[in-house]
Amino acid sequence: MKVSKICCIGAGYVGGPTMAVIAQKCPEITVTVVDINQARIDAWNGEDLDKLPVYEPGLDRVVAEARGRNLFFSTDVNKAIKEAEMIFISVNTPTKTYGEGKGMAADLKWVELCARQIAAASEKNKIVVEKSTLPVRTAQAVKDILDNTGNGLKFQILSNPEFLAEGTAVEDLLDPDRVLIGGDDTPEGREAINALVEIYASWVPKDRILTTNVWSSELSKLTANAFLAQRVSSINAISELCEVTEADVSEVARAIGADSRIGSKFLKASVGFGGSCFQKDILNMVYISRSYGLHEVADYWEQVIKMNDHQKARFAKNIIRSLYNTVNGKKITFLGWAFKKDTNDTRESAAIYVADHLLNEQAQICVYDPKVSAEKIYADLDYLNTRSSEDNRKYVTVVNDPYEACLDSHAIALLTEWDEFVSYDWSKIYNAMLQPAQLFDGRNILPHQDLKKIGFRVSAIGKSNI
Ligand SMILES: NC(=O)c1ccc[n+]([C@@H]2O[C@H](COP(=O)([O-])OP(=O)(O)OC[C@H]3O[C@@H](n4cnc5c(N)ncnc54)[C@H](O)[C@@H]3O)[C@@H](O)[C@H]2O)c1
Repeated sequence: MKVSKICCIGAGYVGGPTMAVIAQKCPEITVTVVDINQARIDAWNGEDLDKLPVYEPGLDRVVAEARGRNLFFSTDVNKAIKEAEMIFISVNTPTKTYGEGKGMAADLKWVELCARQIAAASEKNKIVVEKSTLPVRTAQAVKDILDNTGNGLKFQILSNPEFLAEGTAVEDLLDPDRVLIGGDDTPEGREAINALVEIYASWVPKDRILTTNVWSSELSKLTANAFLAQRVSSINAISELCEVTEADVSEVARAIGADSRIGSKFLKASVGFGGSCFQKDILNMVYISRSYGLHEVADYWEQVIKMNDHQKARFAKNIIRSLYNTVNGKKITFLGWAFKKDTNDTRESAAIYVADHLLNEQAQICVYDPKVSAEKIYADLDYLNTRSSEDNRKYVTVVNDPYEACLDSHAIALLTEWDEFVSYDWSKIYNAMLQPAQLFDGRNILPHQDLKKIGFRVSAIGKSNI
């Protein structure tokens, strides 16, 4: 079966870039990305490619090439469903904020709504692809809804989780380590798997396209995120040990990363991982394990989250301790708010929690981030519900210039590893700050010894000898 029309429901950080790359690499396939969020669709269709709703290096060029040719963004969900032979579900699956499983389980409300809409709008058989990260065994629920619509149509459900990392999404999509496709081991299931394999095979070598059963595919995505987050929490645990033993976490990471059995990636100690996926996917895995009565498995993975919360809290506490145990009324400059560099995504960013901690101590925070708007920063703080939104606006200012952000500041906290931070005129910044000027490098990217020579008091993760 050859697919000529694809619909993707959800034009977010995954749906947008993934479909743009499929459209670029498969000009013979018409790809329509639909979303209920009109503003998001308008931004995807906007003239100014600098204002796409998702910032990713290189994405503007991919969109420029394919948009209007075979890549379309629309809010007409039913029309796109009707016309497509293959439908990707790429909607958000956040942690539940209410009811059973609150704070742990994935909220599958939006996925279920998609399944129901696909069932209602379809007039012919379709392949439905789970692109969202879903709890293992979700395909069963999706299939159940689709099969019980009474219109007699046949749906094949595939799991095709996305492994892209924000900040390198285009690179990751163009040259993935692997593409994973799970489906039924039946003639129809195998036909559906092959249809999707053929799409990816337009640019991905076949030996990197792995096919499995649906459940392995669903669970592999949760497992991948759990393993990656676990590495961050592992090295962060070691960073605290380094600080009291005069070992240096960068040296330890280099030494253990050179062991080919361990590998060098994801060994960078930091203020803690963020992003929309790691925490939610581990919590989800913990919830699933508990619901099967596997309490030791659940406890084991939950510890990764606890370590991450501890790392964020101890970064904030270190700032307070270093500023003579009070930050009340003191200006603290945040360099960076995004959860990592090269993205405008701030979901679960460590900066939000560090700020919240310092605001509880009545600090004045001034934020500069090259890609995040003031509106987003206030929305992130308001979402915590720790204080009124008036107070968040009173105690937090957001500026567009890093030098202005650091003026008359007691301390700088570097929260995101944006490259531009390294090349600032740090002497100029030092001279504009209140003394003693303190600098807390939450990402270990600055030249600490040079800063010390300028006069800064530098504190960094996993280092005691600066
Ligand atoms: N962000 C990442 O780095 C990443 C990486 C891999 C996998 N994932 C997974 O991919 C999924 C999507 O993540 P995201 O970051 O793109 O989320 P997102 O919030 O950026 O985008 C989801 C979009 O879906 C839209 N939507 C929700 N319900 C809809 C409906 N019924 N009809 C039409 N549109 C609807 C929303 O308006 C939103 O624009 C999640 O399951 C996530 O875990 C994310």
